[in-house]
Amino acid sequence: MLNQIRQKALKQIEAESDLKNLEAVYRQYLGKKGELTLILRSLKQMSEKQRKQKGKLANQIKKEIKQALHEKQEKEIKQAKVSKEWIDVTAPGVLPPQGHLNPITLVQRQAEEIFQSMGFSILDGPEIETEYYNFDALNIPKNHPARDLWDTFWLKNLDLILRTHTSPMQARYMEKNSPPLRIIVPGRCFRHEATDASHDFQFYQVEGLMVGSDISVANFKGIIEEFLKRFFSSDVEMRLRPGYFPFVEPGFEIDIKRKGRDWLEIMGAGMVHPNVFSSVGYKSGKWQGFAFGVGMDRLAMLKYGIDDIRLFYGNDLRFLRQF
Ligand code: PHE
Repeated sequence: MLNQIRQKALKQIEAESDLKNLEAVYRQYLGKKGELTLILRSLKQMSEKQRKQKGKLANQIKKEIKQALHEKQEKEIKQAKVSKEWIDVTAPGVLPPQGHLNPITLVQRQAEEIFQSMGFSILDGPEIETEYYNFDALNIPKNHPARDLWDTFWLKNLDLILRTHTSPMQARYMEKNSPPLRIIVPGRCFRHEATDASHDFQFYQVEGLMVGSDISVANFKGIIEEFLKRFFSSDVEMRLRPGYFPFVEPGFEIDIKRKGRDWLEIMGAGMVHPNVFSSVGYKSGKWQGFAFGVGMDRLAMLKYGIDDIRLFYGNDLRFLRQF
């Protein structure tokens, strides 16, 4: 009988791994009404000889069961800790989510790098402009019909506007600096226009200006060709068409053509108009130079094959994550 209890108990302990169930095993044999407890309690009623014999064995078994339970519990506690704290050092790490740069930013950085390598300084100008720098200093007087070329956002009750192009920085810079000079001005511009796939009320331009004593259209062509070649990492065809901008004379519009595609207009340009030189205080006839304004949105659309300008400003992560 006692040996049966021992066998049964030890087997049960061996098979059990749940800590709660091990407690139950304890109660089953050694609790107040446990199988072994009852036997131990019944010893009193036995003859001395029997008591001695059975008592010794029963106490021995009690010790064994207790010991077995203790060991098993220790083992299970250890096991539970280890499996909770276990780290798979070979598992690949979880990468923190990384931000992406807007394609316009990528284009701007690349344009800056290329022009910088050709000796141009990079400048920043105000997005909120005065009428004077946006128009008057650029040979676009009040009531001149050419003002209609730029649909302008006016700031309420102030004599200020949102710049319609980056050209005002030509005047701001030349006022304070003398030739020879080479600058580019990347920045955001605004026009009061209806939006569609190729127009937005905001867009980005890079203004360029190079002035010296003998800067010619040939210099302009050479520099822009080099820029486009490096920007698109391939030869691009380029053509100059006559174009009208009051602050240049002659003025051009520049189209480019990539393999298998149509001609596309990407910038306005020309030789700086004498009236602009005189409005910034340069001595008449002493200097000549070229200016250009290239649309960064257009460049980005061409470079990355994007067909809707509004995607740049929509903050759609599915779009931005691709860059
Ligand atoms: N500012 C003109 C525009 O935005 C572009 C331009 C710049 C033209 C410089 C000529 C010279 O339309």
